[in-house]
Amino acid sequence: MSIQTIGIVGAGTMGNGIAQACATSGLQVVMVDIAQAAVDKGLATVAASLDRLIKKEKITPADKDAALARIQGSTDYAALKSAQLVIEAATENHALKVKILQQLDGLLAPEALLASNTSSISITKLAAVTTRPDRFIGMHFFNPVPMMALVEIIRGLQTSDATHAAVTDLATRLGKTPISVKNAPGFVVNRILVPMINEAFFVLAEGTATAEDIDAGMKLGCNQPIGPLALADMIGLDVCLAVMEVYLAEFGDSKYRPCPLLKDMVAAGRLGRKTGRGVYAY
Ligand SMILES: NC(=O)c1ccc[n+]([C@@H]2O[C@H](COP(=O)([O-])OP(=O)(O)OC[C@H]3O[C@@H](n4cnc5c(N)ncnc54)[C@H](O)[C@@H]3O)[C@@H](O)[C@H]2O)c1
Repeated sequence: MSIQTIGIVGAGTMGNGIAQACATSGLQVVMVDIAQAAVDKGLATVAASLDRLIKKEKITPADKDAALARIQGSTDYAALKSAQLVIEAATENHALKVKILQQLDGLLAPEALLASNTSSISITKLAAVTTRPDRFIGMHFFNPVPMMALVEIIRGLQTSDATHAAVTDLATRLGKTPISVKNAPGFVVNRILVPMINEAFFVLAEGTATAEDIDAGMKLGCNQPIGPLALADMIGLDVCLAVMEVYLAEFGDSKYRPCPLLKDMVAAGRLGRKTGRGVYAY
């Protein structure tokens, strides 16, 4: 099946980024959110992002107009009916995603594919609540979507080879590099990244080095663009802690125990950039 029209549920950070990536690649997009204000905000974010690309001379004003013309915003799920693939990018909440997926399942053509951009919920579990588990897959994009080259393509236990092939092909059409991942907590990137951040908190707590020196060490010694503690401040310390708690519970392995300093900082409300203070002050 050739994918020409993509439905996106959720017009937030990830939804509007995915919409932009699809529209600039020539695909028709229908982006749905619960309130018109959220749809309008998503469309405005895409327009502003395209303006930045014009300033950098990466696209022309005509490219921007053409991309925006390909995105239809709506608050009505019925607008998604003609999509060959719908990517769910709504708020990270299991019960909410189940509700949305079942609604989509009843609406879409039988052969249409369903994907979720979830960061932490099992693709196998989400697939199982639909009547098309073989046509269900994870597409984990990275933020900001228009800039980040990676898409993790996550196969649930039930995902068919045809679904995997179609979605891998789509990611390539979007100019992204797909990697194939089996369903497991944290998939690949966050599974490795977040325990590394947690370890940086242990190193800090043990007084082995200052925060600045830990970050400088990982930047200059491992060629990372940003140190793990500065990255924790960007992600949110609460998010990092919640992810470690999921790994500890799911794998039952004490190597995933969250660092007590990370827990303490979250308890103190030092969540990072969003609260003005985390490891660093902003
Ligand atoms: N932010 C990131 O860095 C990141 C990276 C990768 C994956 N994700 C995942 O992407 C998903 C979306 O995250 P986000 O950061 O874009 O969140 P967000 O809060 O920016 O956007 C979520 C949007 O979903 C909408 N929504 C809620 N219920 C809905 C419904 N029933 N129907 C339609 N829309 C609905 C909300 O109104 C909101 O606009 C989550 O599953 C998250 O785990 C996020």
